[in-house]
Amino acid sequence: MPKKPLRKVVFPAAGMGTRFLPATKAIPKEMLTIVDKPLIQYGVEESLASSMDEILIITGRGKNTIEDHFDISAELERNLLAVGKEKMFKKISRISRMANIAYVRQKQALGLGHAVLCAAPWIGDEPFGVQLADELILGKEPAMQQLRTVHEATGASVIGLVEVASSDVHKYGIVKAKQEGDLLRLDSMIEKPSADYAPSNLAIVGRYIFTPTLFEKLKDTKPSINGEIQLTDAMNQLAHEEAVYGVVLTGQRFDAGNPEGFLAANAILGLQHPDYAPALTLLLANILAKN
Ligand code: G1P
Repeated sequence: MPKKPLRKVVFPAAGMGTRFLPATKAIPKEMLTIVDKPLIQYGVEESLASSMDEILIITGRGKNTIEDHFDISAELERNLLAVGKEKMFKKISRISRMANIAYVRQKQALGLGHAVLCAAPWIGDEPFGVQLADELILGKEPAMQQLRTVHEATGASVIGLVEVASSDVHKYGIVKAKQEGDLLRLDSMIEKPSADYAPSNLAIVGRYIFTPTLFEKLKDTKPSINGEIQLTDAMNQLAHEEAVYGVVLTGQRFDAGNPEGFLAANAILGLQHPDYAPALTLLLANILAKN
């Protein structure tokens, strides 16, 4: 059983988004839009739906639009009301009121592990979540809630996983796991291995719950692949010291931080959206009929 309630979530958002250039030259990848809202808003909504309403976003240079997005836009709200756009007013004003959001600036892009370490003073001695906004996971049960269930039963750190093709293991952190009753216990993990070295096909997909012991491990973690302080390396040390569990997530998952995943997310979610699906379906049917 956890000693302290789980309320806080960290969104590392200071990365340079190099996999999606030139789109991310001046726009943070977290602000890329899936259908009609940015990735970071999907992420925050997932935290809230998983009963975590204290949010910390780790930002960096060129990331101001994230703060603007969650801020009150008094002029826009006034204008929407003045022209009678009540429905849109409600949609917009909800964004600035949905959560308690704090920001910490990571001054140098030293890696995901370093970004999470920047959250240490804000987290204190509590368990906390970490979410990567470019991994979009949608389903009946929010991904963070799936992790929370295991955390509440065990008090331990819990990592979200999905099975990937062997040809894709080099893109992810990959875990070595063993069944422990109903749970999947993680023995070790390795960041972006080649297919030959991958201990399994189970990939880490940007959903984590950690005990605060992680910070002790992060403080001792040296830069490794790409010269960055890797979160996966600290998690691996944590798994040697205390139990770390994995959850194979249910839901539709899109790796939206690269063009293929982003396009798939827009196409599929566009076709599922009640407002846009009818016109989009017709348009696509016409295009396909001509080819
Ligand atoms: C990060 C993590 C990696 C994880 C991936 C999920 O890598 O370091 O372990 O599998 O996110 O998308 P990145 O995609 O930032 O290189």
